[in-house]
Amino acid sequence: MAENILRSTNERKERAFLVGVEIKNEPSILSLSDSLEELALLADTAGLEVVGETSQKLERPHASTYIGSGKVEEVAALAEETLADIILFDNELSPRHLRELSLRFGKSVRIIDRTTLILDIFAQHATTKEGRLQVELAQHEYRLPRLSHAWSHLERQAGGASGRSGSAGGVGLRGPGETQLEVDKREIRKRIAFLKKEIEKVSDHRKRYRAQRKRSQIPVVALVGYTNSGKSTLLNSLADADVYVADQLFATLDPTTRRVMLPGSHLCLFTDTVGFIQKLPTQLIAAFRSTLEEINEADLLLHVIDVSHFNAAAQYESVQATLAEIEADHIPVISVFNKADLLEDAEEAKQLLAETDPDAFLISAKTGQGMEALKAGIMEQLYEKMLPIRVRLPFTEGALIAQFHEQGSIDLIENFQNGVMIQGSIPGRLITRFQNFVDKPTHQETDRPIFPED
Ligand code: GTP
Repeated sequence: MAENILRSTNERKERAFLVGVEIKNEPSILSLSDSLEELALLADTAGLEVVGETSQKLERPHASTYIGSGKVEEVAALAEETLADIILFDNELSPRHLRELSLRFGKSVRIIDRTTLILDIFAQHATTKEGRLQVELAQHEYRLPRLSHAWSHLERQAGGASGRSGSAGGVGLRGPGETQLEVDKREIRKRIAFLKKEIEKVSDHRKRYRAQRKRSQIPVVALVGYTNSGKSTLLNSLADADVYVADQLFATLDPTTRRVMLPGSHLCLFTDTVGFIQKLPTQLIAAFRSTLEEINEADLLLHVIDVSHFNAAAQYESVQATLAEIEADHIPVISVFNKADLLEDAEEAKQLLAETDPDAFLISAKTGQGMEALKAGIMEQLYEKMLPIRVRLPFTEGALIAQFHEQGSIDLIENFQNGVMIQGSIPGRLITRFQNFVDKPTHQETDRPIFPED
């Protein structure tokens, strides 16, 4: 099962002291103080009470304790003063850092890094079987190299029989000459292999469902955006649906798909996806690959941005970077600047739009402002706008060739030995269907035209 390391209850929230570090020459989308502010929000979402913070600028992380030894002393004193249960690092800590810091700070406080915190929030919010499997996999992958005697022992004490140590839900039998740590690692590796197989099964099912959806020819629009930008609220507003909305980070983890009728009675499917965040743990991206494939398979992306957020521009960049990372940057995107009702200065928003995407829509999913224009814009992109494309389709793709003839406009067509090259334009909603066949000139003998059409 996906596990929660944090132990806040309704009666008592765990107290967290935050530590932020800026490493010189390490690219970062947010400034040190903005990143710490975001960490505080994450901590709040995870049910922690933030009791203080400190930060340090370094040339490079210290090999053993990440922060300098003087800073370690200072944090220890502050943690004691503020009665902190947890010291929360804004950066990802290596196995060695974690081990050394745990030794320095002793058993009275626990050391948790940003990645562990995000994984914990995901574990709290995953509701479907697939979501839970993916989070558990990411947690084990992250913890495996970080298990050490000290860590394992501390965690076991804390977790009791449920085996929070990461012993994969139970303490395994120790083989001859095996230490408890080796047993724990063996158990986790076994569990990881099992989880991967299970995820594969669920993702096969999802693939079949997507293929079915594709055959139905109904265009799919995926909502992407920074966490808390208002994706679920927008989906609710578009679809008159009832998707869980909360002023929390990562309220939605599992993709929710709704049918929406666009102007002109055009039906389309809208999918709400997991929110992005800067420094999204790579284990999560890997584990959530099948969920993220929902984005990759969409015909259009709506990139939702919280225009009222003081860091809207950085969040915009961060999402663009993640889209490139998951190789979804070829899909047409409409930028949607949401929460216009919270703006005091409309000029600032206009400037932001001009700098990021002049074709963006300014809306409020809450009040409905700009929604009709947005729907018309989506309709136009999917059904009216013709996008230029040049494709090389094998004859085995007869359906696509027919579709280009029926719905596209053809400027040039050439037959090849095993297929056809078509140059022309097609409606925006079809562009991703042809993506795999975009023409890349080759010099192979068989690719030479044999009977060009008039
Ligand atoms: P994640 O699930 O974390 O990715 O969030 P999300 O992008 O789905 O955001 P969600 O729709 O849950 O909204 C986050 C918060 O913003 C909620 O408190 C919403 O009520 C609020 N919100 C969303 N849209 C608007 C808007 O147009 N105006 C205002 N004032 N608040 C909004």
